[in-house]
Amino acid sequence: MEKIKLDEILNKVIKVIVSTGDRIYRLSSGRKHVSYKGAVNLVTRFDKISQKRIVEYLKKQFPDYGILSEEDVNYGTSREIKWLVDPLDGTTNFAHDLPIWAISIGLEVEGEVVLGVVYDPTRKELFSALKGKGAFLNGKKISVSKTKKLGHSLLVTGFPYDIRESKDNNLNYFARFCLEAQAVRRLGSAALDLCYTACGRFDGYWEIKLAPWDQAAGSLILKEAGGMITDFKGRPFNIYGKEVLGSNGYIHTQMMDVLNRRSD
Ligand code: IPD
Ligand code: CA
Ligand code: CA
Repeated sequence: MEKIKLDEILNKVIKVIVSTGDRIYRLSSGRKHVSYKGAVNLVTRFDKISQKRIVEYLKKQFPDYGILSEEDVNYGTSREIKWLVDPLDGTTNFAHDLPIWAISIGLEVEGEVVLGVVYDPTRKELFSALKGKGAFLNGKKISVSKTKKLGHSLLVTGFPYDIRESKDNNLNYFARFCLEAQAVRRLGSAALDLCYTACGRFDGYWEIKLAPWDQAAGSLILKEAGGMITDFKGRPFNIYGKEVLGSNGYIHTQMMDVLNRRSD
């Protein structure tokens, strides 16, 4: 395969993610026209506007790459190079005018995420990373926190959309960490949870049943910021897997111990 120029690709992704995010932010004051994908799983017309703009741009600029994007875009996904797009991560917040949401775009090459960009238009915060080149927030290098003890750590998590139907809903782990950590937050955007762990605002993050578009970009950003990311047993992280445990590295084993404890 022809060598791909990731720096050039990154510039194009930044252009489309920032312009789309800023546009959605400007257009979206007031009513959001919410529809339901499930009892607690929402989608707004802005998820679709964002997706249309990004997907059209990526298809035009990179006609040979596949695209997997949350709102039913599944195009050329068996190709070696593909985009993983969450056009609006944090839709429940967005629908309630809670300004914690972002757009997330990752690029997977032969099974590995090599580029990740997450943009929060409310705060004008752009997180980015290329494999092997470090992670950045608005162009400044970022790194994970240095907190060594779980008891001093601020953690973040989220809950799956089948929380009402499935017992495997993270409430057990949430209860355990509330008793072990300094505090636990639930922000409502997995992409930002990973980026905030990458820049040291959180010390650790765990979640279950995420989709690849939720975690592709953020997982690379966290790794490149010096963080550790695995499944709950410490095995290599997989964006198509069902568990994510991300941390500053220091508290990783302590978090694994809590997750793997036999019973409460
Ligand atoms: C959701 C958010 C949330 C996480 C959910 C995700 P969406 O994505 O990332 O934090 O807990 O599991 O599905 O639906 O807002 O794109
Ligand atoms: Ca999402
Ligand atoms: Ca989404």
